[in-house]
Order: sequence, then C-alpha cells, then structure tokens
Amino acid sequence: MDRSLSLELVRVTEAAALASARWMGRGKKDEADDAATSAMRDVFDTVPMKGTVVIGEGEMDEAPMLYIGEKLGTGYGPRVDVAVDPLEGTNIVAQGTWNALAVLAVADHGNLLHAPDMYMDKIAVGPEAVGTVDINAPVIENLKAVAKAKNKNIEDVVVTILNRPRHEQIISEVREAGARIKLISDGDVAGAINTAFDNTGVDILLGSGGAPEGVLSAVALKCLGGELQGKLLPQNEEEVARCKEMGIDDVDRVLMMDDLVAGDDAIFAATGVTDGELLKGVQFKGNSGTTQSVVMRAKSGTVRFLDGSHSLHKKPNLVIRED
Ligand code: FBP
Repeated sequence: MDRSLSLELVRVTEAAALASARWMGRGKKDEADDAATSAMRDVFDTVPMKGTVVIGEGEMDEAPMLYIGEKLGTGYGPRVDVAVDPLEGTNIVAQGTWNALAVLAVADHGNLLHAPDMYMDKIAVGPEAVGTVDINAPVIENLKAVAKAKNKNIEDVVVTILNRPRHEQIISEVREAGARIKLISDGDVAGAINTAFDNTGVDILLGSGGAPEGVLSAVALKCLGGELQGKLLPQNEEEVARCKEMGIDDVDRVLMMDDLVAGDDAIFAATGVTDGELLKGVQFKGNSGTTQSVVMRAKSGTVRFLDGSHSLHKKPNLVIRED
C-alpha cells in the first residue's frame, strides 16, 4: 500500500464525522448514521485504490451504500479490503454523549477477517501488556497481569466495559478484584483504542460488543502495537451457520491478532464525532467546522493526529442535514 493513502483516508472519516455531527443530540440515530454513510461513500470515490468492502453497513440487499462486496475508490492503485463503520456510536450522537467516531480500516486484499454482524467477546490491551492476557483466563488473572505489566497496583487499573446487563458478572468480578471501572454506554472501538494511550487513563477493555467493531479495533491496535483477542458469540443456529459460511468453522476458537488482521500492513483512520478521551468531536462555528482525527499504519507504526479546519462555505456537501 502506498503511504499517501493514509492521508486520503482521513478525508473520508472527516467527511463522515462532519456530516453526522450535525445530528448531535437530536435523538435521531438513523439520520446521523445515514449522513455519515453517504458522506463517507462520496469521498471514497476520490481515493486512489481498488477497494472492496468486507465489513460495512450490511449485505447488498439491505444496505444502499457501503454494503459488503461494494467496490470503492477510483479503480486505480492498490487492491485493498476495506472495513468501515461510518458512525461508530449512533446512540452516542443521538444523545450527544461521549466517544462517537467515524472509523475505517484498510488492508491488503484478503487480510481482514470478514466478521459477521454478531457479538464478539473481546479483551484488548495496549503495548505494555501485550502477551500477558488471555481471553479464556479468569478476570482476576487478566487484571493482575495488566497491573504487573504496567507496574501498577490492581486498584489503579482502569477497565472499560460496555454498560449492559450481560456484563454483570464481569463487572462484579472486576469490583471484587478492587480495580476501577469505566462503564461506557456505547462505542467499544474507542474503548479498545484508548487502552493503547496512557493519557486516556484506560488499561484494558473487557466484554462483548459487535464483531465488526472487533476487527476495526484490532487493526488500530495492530498499528499501535497493542493486542485484541476475540471469540465470536453466535446466538442461534443461523449465526453459527453464518460463521461457517465466512470460513470460521470452530466458533469457540480464540481469534488472535493475525486472525483478525493478517499481514504486516494495514491503515486505520478515525475522526471524532463527539468528544472523547482521545479525540475531540466536531465543532461548528459559522461556515467552519473543525475535526480531530488519528491515522496510523501498521507497517511503519506511525501514528498521526490531525486537526482539520473545513470551510463549509466552499464545501457545503460536507454537512448535509435534511429535517
Ligand atoms: P452502533 O454505532 O451500531 O450503534 O454500535 C455501537 C456499539 O456500542 C458498538 O461500539 C458495540 O460494539 C456495540 O454497539 C454493542 O452492541 P449492543 O448495543 O447490542 O450491546
């Protein structure tokens, strides 16, 4: 992959963030998602690559845009697989709370797990704790391992967990161990990425969320030198069959980093839609919109934070809201 692709891809997440941020706090999650999807789709047309969506907004018959198998890019350039989540945190934007992102990942053709749209159990840590955790180990063991790796007391470890009834057991085990918890309403991609940045104050992500989000998070953590382990959690026979169709025969198998994103190269880009620990959300003033993004590449390990100031006067298509 050409390294200049990174900057091209940030333009894509910036457009999605600008478009969906207009819907912040309006209680309309579908409209926010549609705005992000359509803006992302438009800008992809200008990116020099031969891309195919492998993780997107759904199957071709259920999603008008960014569906699985859709071709993206100018048709010239590297042949890549693309994973997108135009708006990661639709409810977050609807409510105007924390950590909504416009997200994408790109890897050489064949290197991204075609994760089915179902739950995945996840454990994610940053670089210092790589190789010390095990998704099959008891919570207490993983907390001890992270504390040791990060030279902290277990009472100082912060665990991000999606606030869901299905996580009651994990939450009570973490509390029993004495560690601190950050319960999040949505957005476990940000939760996973944050484990790799000291300034977020988060050490580990535990619990289940979307499998597609798991692959996106794994790409980011690959670039950052962190780790995510996942286990698919099919809820019925149909979901088991879907796993098999996608080449995952043993659904109990732990998916390690190389299963989620193979090869040594991949690019991850995200732009903040609402404020988060890592990225500021979109702000508007008059005819200007500001964005904050991160783009990173696994091969080089380069992580760039980019502040954008966008003239909405010159590019009115960046912000579309039709009430
Ligand atoms: P959406 O943007 O599709 O609403 O997903 C948000 C999210 O919180 C993800 O971050 C997470 O992986 C998943 O939903 C969790 O699913 P559920 O809300 O069913 O627990």
